Amino acid sequence: MNRMRAGLPAGVAVFLALATVEALALTTGIVPARKLYGIPIVVVALLVSLIVAYVRGRQKALSLVVCSELDSESKYFCRRCSEANLREATGIVQPIFGRDSIDAAVVEQWRLGNPQGFMEIVNEENVLVGCFVVVGLESSLMRQFKEGTVAESAILGRHVLPMSRTKRLTDIYISGVMVRDSSDYLGAKRTRVLIWCMLKYLKHHFGVSSKKKLYALALNRESERMLKSLKFRVYSKSSSRVDKHNLYMIDYTKDQWEEVSRRLGDLSAMCKISF
Ligand SMILES: CC(C)(COP(=O)(O)OP(=O)(O)OC[C@H]1O[C@@H](n2cnc3c(N)ncnc32)[C@H](O)[C@@H]1OP(=O)(O)O)[C@@H](O)C(=O)NCCC(=O)NCCS
Repeated sequence: MNRMRAGLPAGVAVFLALATVEALALTTGIVPARKLYGIPIVVVALLVSLIVAYVRGRQKALSLVVCSELDSESKYFCRRCSEANLREATGIVQPIFGRDSIDAAVVEQWRLGNPQGFMEIVNEENVLVGCFVVVGLESSLMRQFKEGTVAESAILGRHVLPMSRTKRLTDIYISGVMVRDSSDYLGAKRTRVLIWCMLKYLKHHFGVSSKKKLYALALNRESERMLKSLKFRVYSKSSSRVDKHNLYMIDYTKDQWEEVSRRLGDLSAMCKISF
């Protein structure tokens, strides 16, 4: 996908060029219009453009990957989120989430309910590059949230349970997943780091055979894609929820944990975690 994205300008340029030539050929009468009947020229132009986008994107992707690997981040640190970094993360996602964003002061109250549930990832320059939130909620609120009768904005600090109680729950809520500048190649690397840190975090706090269910709300296309790739399934549909977003769920199992872990490989040389 990233390759196609990188090659998109080249693909669009080729498509426009082919379309222009075709239009000129038709209007000037160089090629009689009737001869074009039955020839799916637009389809051919589209196919050529897609191939160009893929090939060009592959070249660009490779060079960008090499660049980003050479010139930048090679170490990440994952640790409990500070108040300042939580505020920064809330600010980063605010324009993305729009009406769904939660006020930084409220999120800080959540953090105080379970500081171990809020994790940040910084690079070697101590710049915040990602964060995630894994919390257990007071049971009646979690039930309503699962049913979709309340939105995330109904969660207050007092609903967020301390880690000692969270460990005993079945239902765990994952929220606040954020990667800074996720759409470029460095961003994809940060996303891998984030998922890897989340796996380590879940194993540390809950083990890998804990029969827990993980829930996450898909606030946009990116999070929807990520949840699907992690094999989450829709638990309650956007149309039946007050927040109008799909709520996803996955049974947290050893097999699932190991599958994602295998896909990511061992990032321990690059990432240090302190819980
Ligand atoms: C949600 C968010 C973290 C997703 O990040 P993303 O970079 O768009 O995710 P992608 O699906 O492109 O994945 C990036 C890379 O991570 C890795 N990855 C993704 N899913 C993976 C999985 N299930 N297993 C292993 N690796 C995975 C892959 O290497 C992937 O790169 P590839 O597609 O080139 O192979 C990011 O878009 C973001 O921070 N958005 C703003 C905040 C937000 O919307 N948060 C969600 C709130 S609900």
